[in-house]
This record gives sequence, structure tokens and C-alpha cells, in this order.
Amino acid sequence: MANSRIVIDHDFTVGPVNPRLFGSFVEHLGRCVYDGLYEPGHPLADENGFRSDVIHLVKELGITTIRYPGGNFVSGYRWEDGVGPKDQRPRRLDLAWHSIESNQFGLDEFAKWTEAVNSEVMLAVNLGTRGLENAIELLEYANVRTGTTVSEQRAANGHPEPYGVKMWCLGNEMDGPWQIGHKTADDYGKLAAQVARSMRKTDGSIELVACGSSNREMPTHGEWERVVLEHTYDLVDYISCHAYFEEQDGDLLSFLASGTQMDDFIKEVVAAIDHVKSLKRTDKTVNISFDEWNIWYRSHYPKATRPNGVDEWGVVPRLLEDVYTVADAVAFGGLMITLLRNADRVTSASLAQLVNVIAPIMTEPGGPSWRQTTFFPFAQASALGRGEALQVKITSPSHSTDRYGEVSTIDAVATYDAARNATTVFAVNRGNTETVDLDIVLRGDLMAATVTATTLSDDDVYAANTLSAPERVTPQANDTAAISGSSVTVSLPPVSWTVIDIRH
Ligand code: AHR
Repeated sequence: MANSRIVIDHDFTVGPVNPRLFGSFVEHLGRCVYDGLYEPGHPLADENGFRSDVIHLVKELGITTIRYPGGNFVSGYRWEDGVGPKDQRPRRLDLAWHSIESNQFGLDEFAKWTEAVNSEVMLAVNLGTRGLENAIELLEYANVRTGTTVSEQRAANGHPEPYGVKMWCLGNEMDGPWQIGHKTADDYGKLAAQVARSMRKTDGSIELVACGSSNREMPTHGEWERVVLEHTYDLVDYISCHAYFEEQDGDLLSFLASGTQMDDFIKEVVAAIDHVKSLKRTDKTVNISFDEWNIWYRSHYPKATRPNGVDEWGVVPRLLEDVYTVADAVAFGGLMITLLRNADRVTSASLAQLVNVIAPIMTEPGGPSWRQTTFFPFAQASALGRGEALQVKITSPSHSTDRYGEVSTIDAVATYDAARNATTVFAVNRGNTETVDLDIVLRGDLMAATVTATTLSDDDVYAANTLSAPERVTPQANDTAAISGSSVTVSLPPVSWTVIDIRH
């Protein structure tokens, strides 16, 4: 059996973990909204048509912030279509996902639903087919108390109190040629600056996110961030990162090490931000909103059902309904570790998405809901990964991967939560052959009083939770965890995600 070790010193912190790191994303796409969180007529729907079983699972997941309504969808969306009497709302073509949008669920329903799940609303404005005027009208509808036609429209629609939405995305993936209204960095940067300036005049308390690269492989990545930030640096608080990962060509080991690529991406975007910061000679620091991240099997998504390939306009079609395995949960856990490790610069993140569409929660119309394997690493990180992110020194065996070369077999991060007086270690074994013993060495005054650990792993790394076997994969108590002097020891099986919670 191999050995590994991490050293934790509570004086060496990365920075506070912003609760917004545990955000998610709801897009009008497939069955995320309709038949997902909203299904009037379902036996468990409440008086608003919200599925109470889904509300329960979203709360258990520990979602703090929810980005809405897209995604690619937002770049063709008219927000006014989704407010007011439901029988007067128009049906529209959704060009992004080749679907028909009924508009039976819109901003007011979303705001009410986020209250039910105790989450903060994060909105995106349409900078694809629309621009400045509609962005400030939407902000006025959401945040201006009263005294204007638009704010009184919200009151007339049953919401006299403003929503006070703080987080606003200036469009979505505007660097992508697939995006409705795709722009060059220069054109987008100028528009984003204009919109940001006027939005800030409407409500000085908002926080703004400029679009960064849609993924690290975009040919404009790096240069896009520089140009956009040169236009917007003084006006925005964040620039976005988006990244999706999948196992390709049976290369499990590279896939399990996906956190390596996410980490490189973050470092590159931080470098681009800080380069513009130096050009501007400013003290202001822009941070990253990693507002789309997940495992997504894009290569499995048949071309025939891709938006541009279909003839029929779908009505609540089943799109992007990936089924996640144990291996996916471990790669996902590695991404969660990477986000926590970069908590000083990644101060907001959104798991894309929340229900049915590349989601931790699945539902059947008229039927049950269940947790996918990726539900567990997220829920555990959100419940326990609070307080300060800590620097950890890892010594681990390594193995070679086709995509990332030699990687350490064990990857880990730790957080210290003063409110619970607890240190939590999140660890993945990214190897697929042997169990690795982990020695967690605690330096300083904080000694371990008790330890509990759970591990998600399986002899079949492709085991998954499904409608017929919804609890096939769950984390299990890891009884190897023990205190030994100033250390805690635990065994990490191959292809596993483990959470070790140490009380002092
Ligand atoms: O999350 C699915 C899609 O991925 C989003 O609509 C888009 O922003 C990204 O390309």
C-alpha cells in the first residue's frame, strides 16, 4: 500500500471561502425549469407549481446563489415575456436550444423559488439580441423600490418589495461563435462598459461580472480577457470562467486529473486580470466568477439532437441529461478541491446546472427525484468547506497521464471553520490501481479531538444512480480514519472522494 501525507498549519491560509463559491445555475434549457423545479400538477407540487421534493434536495445540496436564466438562452431572451398574467405570456422560439419557450416561468417565479430554497438570485442580462436599454429596465424591475412605471409593474405583478439582486452577468459567453449576437472582444468590451456604467447609475450596490472565455481552448483565450478588461476594469467586480470536462477515449486517468486543467485556467485568468490591473495602476482587484463548471459529456450528445441539427422545435425536450458515475463524482470532487484551493481569487462559482440538465438532481415528470453521484461531493463541500481555505503541503505518489503528464495521485485541500472549530480535508485518490494511506499532520495548537470520514468509491467506477436504482452510489463511513498523536490517518481507495472532518 502506498503512503501520502499532507501538512496543515492553520496560520497559512489561502483566504476566506466566499459562500458564493457554492452557487449553481438554472437555465431555460431542456427540463431544468419545466418538469424540473416547476411542474404544476405533480403530486408534490406546492401552490406555485414548485416541486417540493426538488426544493428539499436543493436545500440539502447547500446551494447559496443561483444564476438565471442562461446560459446561451439569455442571449435571445426578452425578460418581459416572463412576467405578468400567465395567460398573456407569449410563446417564443428559443434559438439557442431549438425549443419553444412557453414563458410560464419567469423572473417573479424564479425569485419566489429561490426564496423557498434559501438562495441568492444572480441574473444575466441579454447582450446578444439586446443591449443597454433592456438591461437597465430589467435592473429597474428587479431592484428599484417604487415610483416608476417599471418598478410599479413589478408591484402590480404581486411583488411590491424589490428583489435587491446583487450579482449581474453582462451577457453570456460572448466570445463563442455559437452565441446569439457573438462579438469580438473589442465590441463586447465597449458594450459591456456602457451597460455597466448605466446599470451602476441605476443601482450603485450591484456587483457585475464581465464575460471571460467560454473555455480554455478558445483561440481568443487570454487576449479576450485582456481586451475586455481594458474596457471594463473599473466598472466590473468579476470576470467569468466556464469549463466542462469529460472522460474521452477511455482515458480515465487524465479525466480524474481534470482539476489540473481547471487550476491552470484559473492561474491564466488571474494573470490576465493582474496584467490589466498593472496597466491601470489601480488598487482595485477584479476576481473570478467561475459561473459554469461541471462534468459534461458533450461528445456523447448526438449531433442529430444538437440545436442546429434538429428539425422539430422541442417543447420541454430531454436535453443534456447526463448520468453521472463514481468516476465522474471523483473528477468533480477534484474540481471542487481546485475551486477551494483558489478561494482567494475565485470568489463566486456556479455549478452548471441544477436540475435534469447536466445536473446533480434528476426528476421524472409525475414521478420521483433523485441524487446523482455528483450531488454528494458538492453537498459535503458546501456543508463543511466553510471558513478559511488553508494551504496544504501534499507529499504523494504520482502517476502519469496522457493529457497532464505526471500528476500526484492524491489531491487535497483543507478548510478551517472557526464557527465549528473544525478542520475539514477534502481528498481524491486519482489513481485507479491502489489504496493510498493518507497521513494528515496538524501543525500548531489545534489538535484533533474527534475525526469522522466518509468515502465515495465503488468496485465499479462506472456505477451510477438512476430512476430504477436511485441509491446505488452514496458516500459510506470510512472506518479507517483514526487519530494518532498530532496526526489523523485514513485510507483512500482507488478512484475515490473522501471527506475527513476533524473537530478540535
Ligand atoms: O450549461 C450549458 C451551456 O454551456 C450554457 O448555456 C452555455 O453558457 C455553455 O456553453
